[in-house]
Amino acid sequence: MVFDILTLFPEFFSSPLRQSVVGKAIAKGVLRVEAHNLRDFTLDKHKTTDDYPYGGGHGMVMKVEPMAAAIEALKAQRPGATVVMTTPQGERFTQKTAAEFAALSSLIIVCGRYEGYDERIRSFAGREVSVGDYVLSGGEIPALAIIDAVARLIPGVLGEPESSESDSFSAGLLEYPQYTRPEEFRGMRVPDVLISGNHALIEKWRRQESLRRTFHKRPDLIEFADLTAEDKAFLEELKRGKS
Ligand code: ADE
Repeated sequence: MVFDILTLFPEFFSSPLRQSVVGKAIAKGVLRVEAHNLRDFTLDKHKTTDDYPYGGGHGMVMKVEPMAAAIEALKAQRPGATVVMTTPQGERFTQKTAAEFAALSSLIIVCGRYEGYDERIRSFAGREVSVGDYVLSGGEIPALAIIDAVARLIPGVLGEPESSESDSFSAGLLEYPQYTRPEEFRGMRVPDVLISGNHALIEKWRRQESLRRTFHKRPDLIEFADLTAEDKAFLEELKRGKS
């Protein structure tokens, strides 16, 4: 899969894209990420990418012409690419969005800056996504978050196929508690079931702990989760304060 990032700060991406899971996937050739400088698509000698807002007001607005030129040039290189605009006004980027993007062969991520975009830029984007209800200084951090979350779902990026399936959210629930050695640390013991060697019991415990965590920490996720009759019975127990 190829990601093209359109940004005023291409250097922003150089270190993060060399690290960890994404860095390795790029090195292996499973992923390609190219950061393009929006300034290279400006038409005036000052390389202007922003201007004052019509109607007055504070802050600057990203100009439509360089954006349109850049998006059109990138789309010509990658026919069929989906253009995603990062903006706090977009639909919430979730694990489901990540899975949708992972099925594409090419994504062009447009990073905003300044106070906002000229409204006409929106007509060049297929999707608008927000990474959360807070305002960042630009779309570069959201772009990295999107690339990371999508990359994990692309075959060959993670070691084992199950690794991303058991992640928090993939099954619509938070992940169960994990432990590694030592068995006891400052009086805190690893739950006996995990040392029991009984795999059926371990699976059951993990599922119930996932449900318990989600019920307490993110109850909003429960209604969208894929639940069995057994899960529902356990949730009833949780509601009645029994488990
Ligand atoms: N740009 C600024 N804040 C943002 C957010 N929360 N999500 C996506 N893009 C943004």
